[in-house]
Amino acid sequence: MTEAIETRQSIRKFKSDDVSDEIIFQLLDMARKAPSAENAQPWEFIIIKDQKIKGEIIETLKAGIGDKELNKFVKDFLAPMVSEAVGFQVPVQALIKGAGYYPLLNAPVLIAVCMKDPTALFKSFKENYSKYRDIIFIWFVLSIGAAVENLILTAVPKGLATCWTSGFMFGEERVKKILEIPEGVRLLSIIALGYPEKNPFKTPRKPLEEIVYLDKYSKAHPALTSKSPSL
Ligand SMILES: Cc1cc2nc3c(=O)[nH]c(=O)nc-3n(C[C@H](O)[C@H](O)[C@H](O)COP(=O)(O)O)c2cc1C
Repeated sequence: MTEAIETRQSIRKFKSDDVSDEIIFQLLDMARKAPSAENAQPWEFIIIKDQKIKGEIIETLKAGIGDKELNKFVKDFLAPMVSEAVGFQVPVQALIKGAGYYPLLNAPVLIAVCMKDPTALFKSFKENYSKYRDIIFIWFVLSIGAAVENLILTAVPKGLATCWTSGFMFGEERVKKILEIPEGVRLLSIIALGYPEKNPFKTPRKPLEEIVYLDKYSKAHPALTSKSPSL
């Protein structure tokens, strides 16, 4: 398990080799074993192998590049943030492309990760949803994150690679239409899955001493020093 965590990377270039249904089912079987708030299991998955449907998703996201909302989000928020993180000016156009469809382009398999409509799941949720919407939404999103993590880690020892994407969400409604996802069900992520073409550089992580405190948020952990691992 720790080896899978250490070696996993987001991969955005894949070989054209197919991934067997048997392997995909194994990944999804591990995904569904994730913990979920109230054991609600709010996840549903669509395995997309049909090249025509994949093409439609990519085309609709490409077309969405002109979206005013996406452009503004990338220009005002994403580009300054990413540029700050990597230490150089990242071109806005490259980010707009990446936010939409780039990682999905040559993946032989896409897995669309849906979040069930909370109001359809339990009668009590239906009655209380508007009152507790934020809490239920966070519970569900966290639970789905756990399922996706199970999926992408299970892929690693099988020689498979993934890119977890949610940048397409500006085009969520358009992609939902293609996949015939009903109203109320959210499309939270699309996982690009396949055998990796090449592994990019390893992305860095903040060291423990920057993110771990002792007893209170204001108290640095005295046992953590600048020597803790950052990769
Ligand atoms: C919720 C979520 C959404 C993401 N969306 C995208 C995306 O839209 N496009 C993309 O190229 N990568 C996306 N990523 C991958 C991140 O960019 C990547 O995990 C991060 O840069 C760390 O790199 P690593 O996964 O190789 O360790 C997403 C990751 C997460 C967890």
